[in-house]
Amino acid sequence: MTKTRNEITVDLGDRSYPIITKAGLLSEAGDLLEPLVASRRLFIIADQNVYDLHGSQLKQALDKSSFEQVWITVPAGESSKGWSQFTRLCEELLSARIERSDTVIAFGGGVIGDLAGYVAASVLRGVNFVQIPTSLLAQVDSSVGGKTGINTPQGKNLVGAFYQPKAVFIDLSVLETLPNRELLAGYAEVVKYGLIRDYAFFEWLEQKAAEMLGGDLDLLQHAIMRSCEVKAEVVSADEREGGVRGLLNLGHTFGHAYEAEMGYDGRLLHGEAVAIGTRLAAESSVRHGWMERQEATRIEQHFQSLGLNCDFSAYDGTHVTVAALMDHMTRDKKVKGGQSTFVMLSRIGEAFLTKEVDKDMVSTLLSETL
Ligand code: GLY
Repeated sequence: MTKTRNEITVDLGDRSYPIITKAGLLSEAGDLLEPLVASRRLFIIADQNVYDLHGSQLKQALDKSSFEQVWITVPAGESSKGWSQFTRLCEELLSARIERSDTVIAFGGGVIGDLAGYVAASVLRGVNFVQIPTSLLAQVDSSVGGKTGINTPQGKNLVGAFYQPKAVFIDLSVLETLPNRELLAGYAEVVKYGLIRDYAFFEWLEQKAAEMLGGDLDLLQHAIMRSCEVKAEVVSADEREGGVRGLLNLGHTFGHAYEAEMGYDGRLLHGEAVAIGTRLAAESSVRHGWMERQEATRIEQHFQSLGLNCDFSAYDGTHVTVAALMDHMTRDKKVKGGQSTFVMLSRIGEAFLTKEVDKDMVSTLLSETL
C-alpha cells in the first residue's frame, strides 16, 4: 500500500489501482480517467437520485475530455441489487455494442457499485470498470477491494465475483447531499476499521465523529483516507478472503441475516444492519469471555451518542424469528462444513475469526433483540 496526501494505492501487482479522494473531484473526472482507460467509450451506470443531483457535473467533466458516454440509470435502493436489474443492464450494454476495451463506471452507492461491478465482470467476460462511489458506506468500504454481486431471495451477496476496478474516485462534496440516515449508516463501516485494527482511530472517532458527521469535510477526508488505507492494506494482503480479509466482515454475519429477513426494502439499511451486528459481535465476545464488558459498552455508547441505533427492536421487524435468522447465518458465504465463521473482538482495535461460537448463546442473544 502506498499513499500520498489524497491518493492511496491498492497493491495487487499489475492490477494495482489508485483511490483518489478530493472535494470537487467530479469536475476533474475526465482528466483523471484519460490515462487509465484505452477506449473513448464509457457506460455510466448511475443511481437515479445521484444522477438527478450530480449527473450533469460528471457529464460535463467527461465531455471536456471528449469521452463518448452512454448513461443508464437504476432506481435507488437495495431492491435494485438483484437478477432483474442485472439482466436488464447486461442486455442494454450488449445492445449498445459494448466492446472489451470500453469502460463501465459505477456512479452511486454500494448497491450501484456491487451491481455495476458484477455487470462489468460478466459482459464479454469482463470489461474495464471504475468506481465513483457517492455514499459514505461505498466510499470507505464497498467500492474498494473488488467484491461485486447481487442479492437473491436466499441471502445477501450470494451471487457475484471478485472483480477489481481500474480506479476509485471519491468526491467528498457529494456527501453534502447524502441523506443523514445514509451518512450515519455508512459510519458503521468507518468504526469497523477502528474496532478491528486501529484503537487510535477509534479514539479519534469518539472525539471527532459528531463534528465530522455534521459535515466537516476535513474530518471526513481524514476518516475516509484512514478507512481506505486499512482496507487497501487488508485487500493487498488477502484479496480473495482466505484469512485476514474476513475481519472486514465484523458485524456482517449477524447483519446480513437481519437484512435478508427485512427483504431489502429500505426499512433497514445495510449500514444499520452492520451497526446491529457489530453490537451483537461485541456482546457475544463478552459472553464468551473473550472481551471485557466495558469495551462492549463503550462501542454501544459511541453508536448511541451519534444516534445510530444498534438495537433491532427500533426497526419494524416484528415478523422476524430466531429460527429464520439462524437459518440465514448458516447460508452465509463464509460457511464451511455447515459452520459459520464469526468475527469476534478481544478488545477495541483487535479482532479475530472463529468458528468456536456457542450456537445456543447466539440463539439466546438473537431472541433478546426481537
Ligand atoms: N466489505 C468487506 C470486504 O470488502 O471484504
